Amino acid sequence: MANKRHIETLMMHDNDQYQDQFGAVVPPIYQNSLFTFSSWEAIEKAFEDKINNSIYSRGKNPTVALVEQKIATLAGGDKSKLFSSGMAAVSAAMLHCLSAGDHIITLKNIYGPSISLINDFLIPKMNIEVTYVSGSDVDEIAKAIKANTRLIYLESPSSVIFSLQNLSAIAEIAKKHNIATAIDNTWATPLFQKPLALGIDLEIHSCSKYLGGHSDIVSGVVIGSNKLIDAIHVREYELLGAKMAPVEASLLLRSLRTLDLRMARHQKSAMCIAEYLSAHPLIEEVNYPGLSSFPQAELARQQMSGFSGLMSFRLKTDNPKEIKTFFNSLELFKIGVSWGGHESLIYAPAISCMKEQSPEQFEKMGISLGDMRISVGLENVDDLLADLSNALKLINA
Ligand SMILES: Cc1ncc(COP(=O)(O)O)c(C=O)c1O
Repeated sequence: MANKRHIETLMMHDNDQYQDQFGAVVPPIYQNSLFTFSSWEAIEKAFEDKINNSIYSRGKNPTVALVEQKIATLAGGDKSKLFSSGMAAVSAAMLHCLSAGDHIITLKNIYGPSISLINDFLIPKMNIEVTYVSGSDVDEIAKAIKANTRLIYLESPSSVIFSLQNLSAIAEIAKKHNIATAIDNTWATPLFQKPLALGIDLEIHSCSKYLGGHSDIVSGVVIGSNKLIDAIHVREYELLGAKMAPVEASLLLRSLRTLDLRMARHQKSAMCIAEYLSAHPLIEEVNYPGLSSFPQAELARQQMSGFSGLMSFRLKTDNPKEIKTFFNSLELFKIGVSWGGHESLIYAPAISCMKEQSPEQFEKMGISLGDMRISVGLENVDDLLADLSNALKLINA
C-alpha cells in the first residue's frame, strides 16, 4: 500500500516505529555515541549484523538511518549513506571504486574540489590515472576506456557551464566494460533527475545545497544498491569516519518535507530570470539547461523532469569597475559561495580562481571577470528581477 503513495506523501511520514514515540510528529534525535545491550548474547547478536544494528554512531545511528531511508526512497535506490559533507561523499565513492593504479574517466568541468581530489590526492598518493573529457560526446568517453578503467565519474549538469552527459548511453557502455559509474546529481536533485533508473551505479549529492535547502547544514549522501552501499558503509564510512551527525540529519529530514515545494519555486523563478537575462542587452550569454536556447535542451528534457535555480551568465563588459559596480549593487542577491538555499546568492568564479591558479592556468580555464553565477532563492521573483535590473542599469551609468 505504502509503495503506491506519491513521493510528497512519503516525505511527510516516517517509519511506523516512530509512532511509538509519544506520537511525536518530529522523530526524536538520537544524540548518542553508543547504544547499550542487556547481555553478552544481545551485543554478540548485534555484531552479527553490524550494518543494521545501532552499536556505535560511527556505524548506524537511528536518526541518521531514518533520513538515509527517506533519501533512498526519493532517489529510487535501495539504500543511501549520509556523510558529514558532500566532499566526504564524493571521496568515499571514488575511493570505493578505485584501487592503486586504476584509471578514472571524468569531465573537465566537474566541481573544482572533486578535480583537486583526483589531481592532488588520488594521482600522487594512489597512482591513479585520469582522462578528462568534455562529457557531451559519448564516443569520446568510449574511446577513453582503457584496460584499467574502473570508474566513470559524471556531473550532469556540470559546474559553472552546466553541460550535460547522456546518462543512459554512458551507463550502457560502462556496463559492457564492467566499469562502475557515479554521478554528482546535486544540481538536479533526486526530484528532477533519477540517474539510478538510467543505469548509473552511484548517485551523490551535496546535501548542503537543495536537499538541506536552508543554508544551515553541510552534509553529503551516496545512494545505490544494497550491495554497494553496504560495502561503502563498512569500508569508507566506518573506517574514514566522516559520519553524519544526528542533529544535522534531523535538520535534513525537516528540509526533505518541503523539497518539492521549494524546487517548484526555484525552478519557476530561475526560468523567469534566465529568460530575462537572455534578452538583456548587457548580457552576452546565459547557461541554464531549462532554456529552450540551451545547446543541449533536448537531452535536458529527455533525462530531467525539472530544472533547479543555479545558473551562470556573462556580462558584456570586461571593464572591472563596471563588473564590480553590478556585483556590489545587488541587494537581494547576497555575495557568497555555495547555493541551493532559501536565499539568492551571487558569486563570480574568477574571484577564487584568480587566487588559486597561476595567471597562465587562469587564462586556460576560459573564465572571464564578467562571468557570474547566481543561485535563485525563494524570494518573490519580481523583487529578484528588480534587483538585477537596478544593478544592470548602473553598469553604463
Ligand atoms: C556540485 C557540487 N558537488 C559537491 C560539492 C561539495 O559539497 P560540500 O560543500 O557539501 O562538501 C559542491 C559544493 O559546492 C558542489 O557544488
